[in-house]
This record gives sequence, C-alpha cells and structure tokens, in this order.
Amino acid sequence: IAEVKGGPSEGVDRLGERLVVRGWVRTCRVQSSVTFIEVNDGSCLSNMQCVLNSDVEGYDQVEAGCIASGASVMIEGILVNSQGTKQKVELKVEKLVLVGKSDPVAFPIQKKRASREFLRTIAHLRPRTNTFGAVTRVRNSLAYATHKFFQENGFVWIASPIITASDCEGAGEQFCVTTLIPSSGEDTNSPVGSIPSTKDGAIDWSQDFFGKPAFLTVSGQLNAETYATALSDVYTFGPTFRAENSNTSRHLAEFWMIEPELAFADLNDDMACATAYLQYVVKYVLENCKEDMDFFNTWIEKGIVDRLSDVVEKDFVQLTYTDAVELLLKAKKRFEFPVKWGSDLQSEHERYITEDVFAGRPVIIRDYPKDIKAFYMRQNNDGKTVAAMDLLVPRVGELIGGSQREERLEYLEGRLDELKLDKESFWWYLDLRRFGSVPHAGFGLGFERLVQFATGIENIRDVIPFPRSPGSAEF
Ligand code: 4AD
Ligand code: MG
Repeated sequence: IAEVKGGPSEGVDRLGERLVVRGWVRTCRVQSSVTFIEVNDGSCLSNMQCVLNSDVEGYDQVEAGCIASGASVMIEGILVNSQGTKQKVELKVEKLVLVGKSDPVAFPIQKKRASREFLRTIAHLRPRTNTFGAVTRVRNSLAYATHKFFQENGFVWIASPIITASDCEGAGEQFCVTTLIPSSGEDTNSPVGSIPSTKDGAIDWSQDFFGKPAFLTVSGQLNAETYATALSDVYTFGPTFRAENSNTSRHLAEFWMIEPELAFADLNDDMACATAYLQYVVKYVLENCKEDMDFFNTWIEKGIVDRLSDVVEKDFVQLTYTDAVELLLKAKKRFEFPVKWGSDLQSEHERYITEDVFAGRPVIIRDYPKDIKAFYMRQNNDGKTVAAMDLLVPRVGELIGGSQREERLEYLEGRLDELKLDKESFWWYLDLRRFGSVPHAGFGLGFERLVQFATGIENIRDVIPFPRSPGSAEF
C-alpha cells in the first residue's frame, strides 16, 4: 500500500493499474449497493479502501460475514479515483480472497481506542493498531538512520557480547546466566531444573558452564574500547540488560543501546558526535516518516514535529554539572529531593533544566563529580570531577550517557583500587593502557528512549515490541 499511496501524488500517478493488496481488514461496511473494505498491510498508516459490488468474485465471503475486522485477505482490482474525500485513490475490486478468517466479536482490537495498558496484555496483536504500526516503522527508520550515520562517518560496527563476566557500570544491576541441571520430573519444587551447588547449598560456579559467574551485559562499552584502540572509530548497537527494579516509564530490563567509541578523541569530540548523531537521525525520520510523524503530532504529542525540527536546527545547550547545581539552587521551584553538589541529579531536576530553564532544548551536562560516576571515566585536573557528559531531553530525561575514558594506566589502577574493584579481572582492559594507549571517548544512547523522544510515546514499554520489566516476560 505504501508503494502505491506513499508517493507525493498519493497514488494518482498509478490510476488504471491492476493491483493486488494483501493485508488485514480494518473495517467492512456493507451498504445497499456497494461494500467498502478498509485493508491495512502495515507498510504505512493508510489503509487501501477497496470498493466492491455484489457480482465480484468472492463476494459470498462478504455475505457470509467473513470479511470482518482482523481477517486477512487478498484483493485484486483496478486503482481508480476515489469518490470519497478521505483518499485520492481506491481499489475497484475484481476478486476477493479470504486468506484467514477472524471472529470480529472475539478479536481483541476493537474500533474504539484501547488503552495502552490493555494493549500491553496483547503484545502479540498490538502491532495491528495504528499507533504500534507507526511506532514500529519509526523505530525501524531510526535503526536504519543510526547505521547510516555511523557508516557514512567511517565507524565500524562491532558485535559486543551479550554474555560477559565483567560489570561495566559497576552498579550491580546484572542478570546472572547459568545452566540448569534438568530436573528428574518428580521434583515439583524446581520443575525447570536446578543450579550446580555445593553441599551447603551455595552455587558451585566451578561446575557451571562458564566456570565462573557470568552475566547478561549491561553495556558493550569495554568491549568497544578494545576495538576502538585497534580500528579507530567503532560502534555497537545491540541489546543490553539491567536488573534495575524500577517500574518507571523510562526503564526496561532489556533495552537496546548504541555505543560509539571514538579513538584519539576527547570529551568535546564526544559531545560533537552525540549532537551530530542525534540531529541526523531526527532529521531522517522527519524527512522519511512524514505520515507517521503527522500521526504522532495529531494524536500523541501536539507540536512534536516543530519541537523536533528545532532539535535539528538549533545548537544544544552545554553546561557543567557545577553550573547546573547553581541553577537548581537558585530555582524558585520546590524539589522533592534536595540539590547538593556531589549528589546525582534526580529526574525532577533534569526536567526542570530541560523543560523550564531551556524550554525544550536538549541540554548536555558535563564534568560530573567522580564519586557518582563509573570507574572508567577520565579524571579532570581538579581532582574532583570526571570528563563525563549526560545529554538530557524534555520528557525522557537522560537520553545519552558518555565520557572520555581514563587512558592513563596509573590513574585507572588507582581508581580501581579506590573503588575496591578486582584489578585482576580487568587485566585485559588495563592492557589497552599498557600497549599503545590513546585518548578515547564514547557514549551510550538508550535506543528506546530515542524512540520515545521521536514519537512522543510516554511509556517506554510501548516503543519496544516485547517489553521486559519487573514481573513481565511473557510473549
Ligand atoms: O548512562 P549509562 O548507564 O551508560 C553506560 O552504560 C555507558 N557504558 C555508555 C557508554 O559510555 N558507552 O546508559 C546509557 C544510556 C542511558 O543514557 C539511557 O538512555 C539508557 O542507556 N538506559 C536505559 N534505557 C532503558 N532502560 C534502562 N533500564 C536503561 N538504563 C540506561
Ligand atoms: Mg547514565
């Protein structure tokens, strides 16, 4: 349908052509002399209106009531000018084939708009709605634009591992991976099997598959650094996992992250890359997903198209963490959490900065206190802060977190000691500083938060096909 109706002429240039539409029935209206079937095939938001008379081959399926919402059909006909005002063209049907029937009463997606909460319980059918169709196509375009941006700028894509023994962020939010000893079937207490354990009940890691604890990755950064210090600029784009027990509209247990790593680069290069990347992908969807973006502009977030156009055209705000704290201390607004130099910014603080102070512009905050940031970030000369940056956007909050990496062996070892991290286990990471170390920097962007930002969808569970969050891993 997009192929025909997606062009600037909305299909008028293809009048008279014989076409076959394969898709799912949205509605079927039987009137005295004609029947209208609205078909959607997911290629675009628009349906194809198919008009048929009772003498058409396959009309008996209409009479039998089988051409109902949810059914799949194959319809052949001629593209003609539409009499209606909603569309320029329609299909004059010559042949109708019912491919898969659907009971319209039992079909969970009804014409009146269902709540997002309800649709989450039918994640297998929600792609059939306008909203999820549009989100899915925009998500796809953002992924395509991501690869296009990095590939055009000479970055090499790296597949970082999903299973790893190291905890990049050191926040202890990892999911553990283990193998199961199949249960005999009689043990109803552990029907799926058990984990190798010692006599006193502790997990016996030496008997486990990897011979030591292994986890689902929280970030591919450390692995990306190994390739950046060999191939120069690289990026990862893959799933990451966090056992954060936070039931918020911005957190998932499984989310996709884009992590570029730039060699021979400092924090300024990193911020410039983040800005160029974000402007590129936003511009891409504004230009290539017009119909879907207009839908979001009308139904999800009024004014989103203008707001995103501003993101593409205007510079981002940059300020230091210390200046941000000053701003917050001077604010007239009352915050739930106190503002204090040295504490992490809470989402209410981030919202105040992006929404109230800078009126919806993306804001980059840099040079955070070292004690609230990860071990690998490069220490600034003041001895108190690190070369870190967070990019904040309205509504979503933190979209990007990045830093210049500590490339000096003695500083890095010192930091690992200070934090009482096991230096031995970072032997390979330290090697990168022993053999041809270079200044390098990178960032991580939460892909679902980008989709939220680009579509205006409020809850992160509605921008990923199958959300994983505490207590929810069905489908
Ligand atoms: O700020 P974070 O924790 O940074 C890192 O993981 C670095 N290793 C990245 C790097 O420098 N290569 O996470 C990066 C981004 C966040 O800004 C946020 O957008 C997203 O990942 N994110 C989440 N998105 C959804 N659900 C969660 N639970 C997320 N946690 C982080
Ligand atoms: Mg962060």
